[in-house]
Amino acid sequence: MAEPAGAVRVRPALLVDAVSKSFGGVNALESVSCHIEAGSTLGIIGPNGAGKSTLINVVSGLYRPDRGRVLLGGMTSPRRHWIGVPVRDSCALFSRPASSTA
Ligand SMILES: Nc1ncnc2c1ncn2[C@@H]1O[C@H](COP(=O)(O)OP(=O)(O)OP(=O)(O)O)[C@@H](O)[C@H]1O
Ligand SMILES: [Mg+2]
Repeated sequence: MAEPAGAVRVRPALLVDAVSKSFGGVNALESVSCHIEAGSTLGIIGPNGAGKSTLINVVSGLYRPDRGRVLLGGMTSPRRHWIGVPVRDSCALFSRPASSTA
């Protein structure tokens, strides 16, 4: 669908786009999408086994998704270009210049 004239496209700081992750026969995440703006906090709630920790671990880069993508600042970021810090089911993301060699 065409965007209305004058519409401003805001690129989310973090975009989770149709991410799926399975462990054997268990579909922990099935086409999960969400986004978050810079400086904001997103809470994830759900029953035991819903996939909350798996989502955090995919976002942080600890797990590689089977399908879908995680974009940070609009880019699919190799781990060396950013840091994700999962701590007890929370994850803080800090962007890093693409030229960084660490
Ligand atoms: N490393 C793993 N190997 C096999 N199965 C896993 C693994 N990690 C998670 N699972 C399975 O994936 C599903 C989602 O688990 P996950 O830990 O992400 O849920 P959760 O929402 O964090 O649950 P909880 O509220 O208990 O912390 C569950 O069925 C779980 O058993
Ligand atoms: Mg958990």
